[in-house]
Amino acid sequence: MWAYEKKLQYPVRISRPNPTLASLIISQVGGPDGELAASMRYLSQRYAMPYREGMATLTDIGTEELAHLEMVSAIIYQLTRNLTPEEAQAQGFAPYYIDHTTGVWPQAASGEPFTSNFFQSKGDPITDLNEDLAAEQKARTTYDNILRLLDDPDVIDPIRFLRQRELVHYQRFGETLRIVQDKLNARNFYAFNPAFDTAGEIQPRDGSRQAGERGEADEGSRRKARYNGNTGERLGEPAVETESAGPDLDDLDEMLCEPEEIG
Ligand SMILES: [Fe+2]
Repeated sequence: MWAYEKKLQYPVRISRPNPTLASLIISQVGGPDGELAASMRYLSQRYAMPYREGMATLTDIGTEELAHLEMVSAIIYQLTRNLTPEEAQAQGFAPYYIDHTTGVWPQAASGEPFTSNFFQSKGDPITDLNEDLAAEQKARTTYDNILRLLDDPDVIDPIRFLRQRELVHYQRFGETLRIVQDKLNARNFYAFNPAFDTAGEIQPRDGSRQAGERGEADEGSRRKARYNGNTGERLGEPAVETESAGPDLDDLDEMLCEPEEIG
């Protein structure tokens, strides 16, 4: 559940309309490395994260990305406020204007519409966190590119704030990756899916196991039941739950009620 606060995370007060800029900055609404993709990425991935700290971080940052989506949308709105058709045509905004007038619609600067193909939710925390680290750097690079084209301090100020937050998110995902790896068997953390497989035990369909594939039991990835990563069949004896076991999805309500300070 979310509670809406009727203010922006950081103020946006743009006095001079500039539709040319709006047609570029729209990429951070609905482009491949934009804020909509970021929020959907993290808020989708959190369900497969087996550790409380990781789940909380994905929820925190996914929520903040929604606030950033709102900020970038406000920038687009203010840059196109009271735009006339003549100004739209003269300032490179006509293609967007034809389809959306001055409504905010998630697309890339190239005109490519938003698609969930812009992000992954792979169901594997190691895989997902590596994507998240790359995503934060790609978002930062996009803001770098936008800043190089800006000369209006009213726009530069909130864009700089958003760029800074990408750096903080990158740092927090780095810490989360470290936490996840620390909970896994050091020799095998890169080789299996801690959200789904028993540690080091990815069984081929024929039941054989490659030599050296099996590591020590991993407390952090113990779930109530173990499943074969390929067939989905239940494996062996149910694992013993420990204090450090990952949360069940039943715990999610509780997780969402524990607001954590955003870095
Ligand atoms: Fe971010």
